[in-house]
Amino acid sequence: AERPVDELIASIAVDVPDFPEPGVLFRDLTPVFADAGAFRRVVDALTEPADVDPRAAALSGGGVGFDVVAGVEARGFLLAAAVALDAGTGVVPIRKAGKLPRERVSADYELEYGTATLELHTDSIRPGQRVLLVDDVLATGGTLLAAIALVEQLGGVVTAVSVVIELAALGGRQRIAPHPVHALWTT
Ligand code: PRP
Repeated sequence: AERPVDELIASIAVDVPDFPEPGVLFRDLTPVFADAGAFRRVVDALTEPADVDPRAAALSGGGVGFDVVAGVEARGFLLAAAVALDAGTGVVPIRKAGKLPRERVSADYELEYGTATLELHTDSIRPGQRVLLVDDVLATGGTLLAAIALVEQLGGVVTAVSVVIELAALGGRQRIAPHPVHALWTT
């Protein structure tokens, strides 16, 4: 039998104590993405939810699936392009402020110290388009909440949010509700 994907990720990810600051346990996923077999499993699993999640179906007006994948800079980019290729859709980048050259929408989010801004090209999402949002880690949820706001400003429908790791103690899932979070490893 195939090993459960959460066990596979947990066995390859490297825990880094006190990074980026004392008291924080950083879950480094770079070895997971570097492993061909694990990367394939992760990408396949990230692609799944919009096909099976009934809440995603409800949010998208009864339909299932997604029309485009949106990835969040920077680590989300590694995953979103692979997921889009897997699913047969295109991919659009949600970027940190100042990187996108054309007409765009912006959303601010809280960092531990101060705020940051995410941006999305206005023509990246058409009204009614169903979007799968992809990132590596769901922590406080601030980043993905801003990303959802951008898609919705353009009339897109976030049918699912896929992440590799959910750090449950930080409450990101509750913050993003009612958007369904598909996490491959909740810890
Ligand atoms: C990390 C991670 C998520 C976000 C999660 O990105 O890749 O995008 O933090 O945190 P949150 O749920 O508390 O918002 P980071 O801002 O470090 O950017 P990077 O991917 O460019 O390194």
